[in-house]
Amino acid sequence: MMSTEEVRRRLSKYSRVELAHLPTPIEHLSTLSNQLGGPPIHIKRDDQTGLAFGGNKARKLEFIMGDVVEQEADSIVTWAGVQSNWCRQVAAGAARAGKKAILVLLKRPGLPASEDGNLLIDRVFQADVRLQEASGEKGFLEYDNVAEWVAPVLREEEAAGRKAYLAPIGGSIVEGSMGGPFGAFGYLLAFVELLDQTRAQGFTPQTVVLATGSAGTQAGLLAGAKLLSPETRVVGISVAGSGDEISRLVDGITQAVLDEVGDGETVDSDDIVVFDEYLGEGYGILNQQTVDTIGLVARTEGVLLDPVYTGKAMTGLLDLAGKGQVCDGEVVFLHTGGTPALFPYRDEILAGIRR
Ligand SMILES: Cc1ncc(COP(=O)(O)O)c(C=O)c1O
Repeated sequence: MMSTEEVRRRLSKYSRVELAHLPTPIEHLSTLSNQLGGPPIHIKRDDQTGLAFGGNKARKLEFIMGDVVEQEADSIVTWAGVQSNWCRQVAAGAARAGKKAILVLLKRPGLPASEDGNLLIDRVFQADVRLQEASGEKGFLEYDNVAEWVAPVLREEEAAGRKAYLAPIGGSIVEGSMGGPFGAFGYLLAFVELLDQTRAQGFTPQTVVLATGSAGTQAGLLAGAKLLSPETRVVGISVAGSGDEISRLVDGITQAVLDEVGDGETVDSDDIVVFDEYLGEGYGILNQQTVDTIGLVARTEGVLLDPVYTGKAMTGLLDLAGKGQVCDGEVVFLHTGGTPALFPYRDEILAGIRR
């Protein structure tokens, strides 16, 4: 087994820009755990990473912006849905690093597209926002037309004599200008941080539960478990695609991390746990169960979850723990952020919240 110091040492050769407030706190959700009568549930507050309202992208962007700086790029170009947390934190990270952010934001029928929440914050950072109508048929992970939408932006930058850095959605898969799994490195380090914290409190997490989409967060944590704590199961609750689809992404990114940082470890299919039962009607589509979970966690613990990611992931954790499945021993829920999206979903939240 590798030591946490050794993982930190191996990652120290990669460029980083300091963006996140670390370590983030870990808290025991005692009221919720007691109500559930199941395992002790702790929450790792990555909604408190500090970069423009926090969230998981701050840790990823430390490495990705490090690479942008190393490659001497002038701009970072990326894409995602209109209410993307990723794009909001790219806008903030680019501002900190003195780079321009160009965001291709996909408007899909049925999802909030008002100048509110994350989009409002993109505007405050004066990111170069390109809104693009996208069909509703494709989900969050379908890349079909993206090359077509991004290519003109890259050509524009080139024509203007600027070097553009193309970053993949969520900063997860090794694609575009990103020559390594830099986003997932942020979550390998997060696992190191988590393990150091929980060991200091006298326990090792048996299960870590999180919302999974572009899969870099789950992959980084899983690489951490492989290197440092094989007794820890990393459980992804899909908010974006089928279990198979997400598992393939987790597999590829985790292996890429292990290839860079490990000593020849390989990912087995048994290591990859993804539940897609809590996705509801699809990415970004809010349902009553998710609003109930947001209300429950707010009321019992004073913690805000979000409508797109953590609300669904916590619904999964509560259901699985309630059924006595998966969640044995000490459980850690990773709060990956996303709370600015509460605002553009105000109508559905108000209609669903039990008052
Ligand atoms: C709030 C929040 N939680 C979870 C995720 C999922 O992280 P990943 O894309 O690394 O799977 C994202 C980003 O997509 C997010 O914005």
